[in-house]
Amino acid sequence: MARKITFINYKGGVGKTSLIVNTAACLAKLGKRVLLFDFDTQSNSSIWLLRLERWNKLNATGEGAFFSIFEPGTAKVKDLVIKDVVEDKTGQKVLPGLDLVPTTFNLVDLESEYEGDPKRPPYVVFQEQLAEIENDYDFILFDCPPNILRASQCGVFVSNEIYVPSNPDALSLIGFTLLVEKLGKFHQLSASFRKASMGVPAQVQGVIFNSIKTGVDIEVPKMRMQLRMNQFRTAKRVAPTAKIFDTQIRDAMIVRRAVTLGLPVLLVSQDGPDAPAAGTADNVVSDYKKLATEILRHGQ
Ligand SMILES: Nc1ncnc2c1ncn2[C@@H]1O[C@H](COP(=O)(O)OP(=O)(O)OP(=O)(O)O)[C@@H](O)[C@H]1O
Ligand SMILES: [Mg+2]
Repeated sequence: MARKITFINYKGGVGKTSLIVNTAACLAKLGKRVLLFDFDTQSNSSIWLLRLERWNKLNATGEGAFFSIFEPGTAKVKDLVIKDVVEDKTGQKVLPGLDLVPTTFNLVDLESEYEGDPKRPPYVVFQEQLAEIENDYDFILFDCPPNILRASQCGVFVSNEIYVPSNPDALSLIGFTLLVEKLGKFHQLSASFRKASMGVPAQVQGVIFNSIKTGVDIEVPKMRMQLRMNQFRTAKRVAPTAKIFDTQIRDAMIVRRAVTLGLPVLLVSQDGPDAPAAGTADNVVSDYKKLATEILRHGQ
């Protein structure tokens, strides 16, 4: 059965998209079958993996994008999957095993204009459609905006695990705290829609520190996060096995450049004009690989 995982924090800009895209790429590289959903109207992971030219074509009509399962409602999730999404500049598939369901800017309409059937909230419609394809994957990952509104609810409802990307600062801690609160409320609200086959509602399994600058001491923010995690664990508001991940991702210029190149960091050339300063790429790539391995182990 696929492990379904949401990356979310109520704080924006902490690295949800960069962590999920690069982790997905590492898992695919390890031979896992991975499907990534982009649930953020900003479309960051879609634009990253498709590059602007391919994504612009989708955005022009919204056809083939996630919102089309709701409006006009004729598409099914299984029709939206872009197989082996990552291509090089010549159109060659360069990362078999990583599939994407993209979004376009029209996803914003799910939050306000879309009415649908009140007896079948969007997350129920999504859950039923995902069930048709989930056995095709080892991992299904959901990149969310910094809230639990309707788009994120689709991911949270079907997930088994939640990971919280964070920066070592007070605002990330506030974001984590707010997330746990909102998550509890959503699970209560959606409880009557759960089917036995879905298992228990997803709880936070881990906090992942991202963008750690060399030479900066993060012991104090880390300790504060650990204390909050311990309190939540005692109160049974996060998973009993929830932890701060041992792996932390360093701050590296190549992460920002990879977006422009339309490639996961793993595939950014180590030589040629896009080459990073010696050693930099290797290090951050090894961080992402370690993270993928730690996530693999955490699920066992
Ligand atoms: N390890 C890193 N090193 C350097 N830059 C990073 C790193 N991780 C993320 N960034 C950069 O920080 C910015 C925010 O990252 P990202 O888009 O992944 O965050 P996010 O949490 O998904 O944001 P949002 O809340 O807007 O969805 C981006 O410009 C990204 O390239
Ligand atoms: Mg993002």
